[in-house]
Amino acid sequence: MKVKVSRKAHFNAAHRLYRPDWDDQANTDVFGKCSNPHFHGHNYELIVSVTGPIDPQTGFVMDMKDLKDLIRSEVEDAFDHKNLNEQVPEFRNLNPTAENIAVVIWNKLRPHLSQDLDLEVKLFETPRNFVTYTGN
Ligand code: NI
Repeated sequence: MKVKVSRKAHFNAAHRLYRPDWDDQANTDVFGKCSNPHFHGHNYELIVSVTGPIDPQTGFVMDMKDLKDLIRSEVEDAFDHKNLNEQVPEFRNLNPTAENIAVVIWNKLRPHLSQDLDLEVKLFETPRNFVTYTGN
């Protein structure tokens, strides 16, 4: 028997989607407003889910305080109120799309979780646009 437990989190961050090897027109054609050279912000909503067996001693899959603290240290402290392109090393050479941000978050959290737990990262860039990464 496995149960999925989830924790919601939030961060505000600025980004610009572009390829330096494309001209402005090509970047605008592909990335639209998200390629604005002056950057722009999003209110990112994050749902981190951990799936695993219930520990018979605690009744927990995972202590939610530990998950809360992990998200704060690895994601919120690193990304909140930052310019992702310029201030977060993982995006120095990686376009900070919602897809890539979700993968980066997954890679930052995974080493801190027990091996018998599965990890899923769901990231909302807008209330209507969201991506999910499970490590596959
Ligand atoms: Ni954007």
